Amino acid sequence: MKMYAPSWTRVMAFAALSATLTATATAAIAQDTISVASPDGRNKVGVAVHEGKLYYILSRDGASLLLPSMLGFEFKGAPTLRDGLRITGTKRATHDETWTQPWGEVARVRDHHNELRVSVAETAAPGRSFDFVVRAFNDGIGFRYEFPAQAGLGEFVITDELTQFNLADDAKAWWIPSNRPRLDRSEMLYSSSPVSVIDSIQTPLTMQTRDGKTFMVIHEANLVDYARMNLAGPRMESRLLRVALAPWQNGDKVRGHTPFMTPWRTIQLADRAADLSPSVLGLNLNPPSVISDVSWIKPMKYVGIWWGMHINTMTWNSGPKHGATTENTKRYIDFAAANGLGGVLVEGWNVGWDGNWINNANAFSFTQAYPDYDLPGLAKYAQSKGVKIIVHNETSGGIVNYERQMEAAFAMYHSLGLDAIKSGYVTDTTPEGNSHHSQFMVRHYRKVLETAAKYHIMMDVHEPIHDTGERRTYPNMMSREGARGQEYNAWGGEGGNPPEHETNLYFTRLLAGPMDFTPGIFDLLIERGTGRPRRPEESHPRTTLAKQLALYVVIYSPLQMAADLPENYVGKPAFQFIRDVAVDWETSKTIDGAIGDYVIVVRKAKNSNDWFLGAITDEQGRTFNVPLNFLTPGRKYTAEIYADGPGANWATNPLPVAISKRTVESSTNLSVVLAPGGGQAIRFTPAK
Ligand code: NOJ
Ligand code: CA
Repeated sequence: MKMYAPSWTRVMAFAALSATLTATATAAIAQDTISVASPDGRNKVGVAVHEGKLYYILSRDGASLLLPSMLGFEFKGAPTLRDGLRITGTKRATHDETWTQPWGEVARVRDHHNELRVSVAETAAPGRSFDFVVRAFNDGIGFRYEFPAQAGLGEFVITDELTQFNLADDAKAWWIPSNRPRLDRSEMLYSSSPVSVIDSIQTPLTMQTRDGKTFMVIHEANLVDYARMNLAGPRMESRLLRVALAPWQNGDKVRGHTPFMTPWRTIQLADRAADLSPSVLGLNLNPPSVISDVSWIKPMKYVGIWWGMHINTMTWNSGPKHGATTENTKRYIDFAAANGLGGVLVEGWNVGWDGNWINNANAFSFTQAYPDYDLPGLAKYAQSKGVKIIVHNETSGGIVNYERQMEAAFAMYHSLGLDAIKSGYVTDTTPEGNSHHSQFMVRHYRKVLETAAKYHIMMDVHEPIHDTGERRTYPNMMSREGARGQEYNAWGGEGGNPPEHETNLYFTRLLAGPMDFTPGIFDLLIERGTGRPRRPEESHPRTTLAKQLALYVVIYSPLQMAADLPENYVGKPAFQFIRDVAVDWETSKTIDGAIGDYVIVVRKAKNSNDWFLGAITDEQGRTFNVPLNFLTPGRKYTAEIYADGPGANWATNPLPVAISKRTVESSTNLSVVLAPGGGQAIRFTPAK
């Protein structure tokens, strides 16, 4: 809705300047390409050398999506690898395998693709060579560069990756920028505009071609030892997107030595927005799990000593309002146990929060608790109640301080039976000046994951590197933030997240992987907890209560928080849905959706016959007729429906929820009515 609205005439005028190659060159490249198509034949990538430069093109159903897009690298102290190239060989392969995830949006994933490997070499000295590897799937494509060990390229520093995405069309894009100061954490609201007007972009970047026929999502997969990919936008000049890597402090982008592989650059393709999710392209481009015993890795719901800090009724630091006290934590553990929630997050338990914690990264201890917090005692207490304490590790970006303590801290947590950490990186650059998304940080996040795996610890990372499918290789990488979550509804500017926010997230950030959004605020006006009415300039969740419930189904996360203060759930019949909703799924399906407008999702719980439906809308009320043909035919189900109640409206009357029960079957067409800013959550259980 609303959003950034450039004039189309202006855009078209600039688009005329966009041609980086003459029409003859473009035709010549198309003529010469070596191609590979997806198993269904619809998605086709061509690779060709023209005047010594390497290009690729992409089409779907014969319609061009990417015009010739150049490939290459710039190195420090070595010539650019881009010119005087020739193709020295090609190789093809086909792969079809179905693999199982220990947890996820879907239990089984099919990896069916055709691969083309093009070997390329410089004709002149230093005679460097690499393979350009493409995989074509029915749901998109991936490509990467692989450098063998070689005399002309040993140790290197990449100063620029020259990969281009030369869009055939001025597609409509849904995006957040990547080059604004102090915004490096991806916690921004989405805009939509023609792609040609954007100056910098974070991925996943979702686009729709102007004929409406194709949705494309540019992202990356298997980011292990490289810089995060952002995209430099065309700046009103063309439709040419270029890779822009996040830098080390001195401007280096990637340090390495051959043999070496880049992450995959991925382009997911679909006919409808609804077909984009669940997205498995990135997972298929990550290596299989390296953790053989995954019995300790378990999705769960949790409560936390958390919202109180964000609405100012508690503090992280010591003092009269300290949230992480032994007594308070016991209260949360009791609440979790009584309601079948698996975990309790405790923030502010460890020494280091006093003073300006954002600028005081080195003050954090990851083993020493505040005197009013009995860590071993609480670990035992939680265990006796069948609840897990989620240990909070805020680093404030102090990577050196964290890495110095990490091994000892994780060993200590393990010895106390604590197997989940929520970490945090509230900072734009490290104290040493490396970008939050630099190779330095990518290495750090990976090191944490490996150390956590060693000590059987599950990770929930806030202010993370963006998700590139790490969870396939490290299934202890459970959830992460990396977008604007519920916390902005406590203190964010603009009054909190606008009603359309989650309908943007679903088709953008969430295509990368799970998000710890932390749904479930019931005291939507933030009055009960604080004991005073919210002032008009203060933010609060701009949703109805039923929409807060629907978010448990819509926003996928294997760690799903009941974010409000426990006392705000007491005596609330709607809380039953949070108790009941599953966090691990056999299968998931987006029934319908329009980016920025609405989403309807159904998911079948793992090891159960229950289905759940979540539907959300933006500021506009909507009615849908949902065919329940996903249910098993011939079987009757009880639908427990949590709908927006009479007069519900996010702006004026967010609280009414109408809870009802009815019998349905697969032939039922269910009318789903959503209030402005509203939602609906349904549990379907086979009738006895
Ligand atoms: C930002 C995180 O997103 C939030 O959940 C956390 O409470 C604060 N940092 C403090 O670590
Ligand atoms: Ca955050």
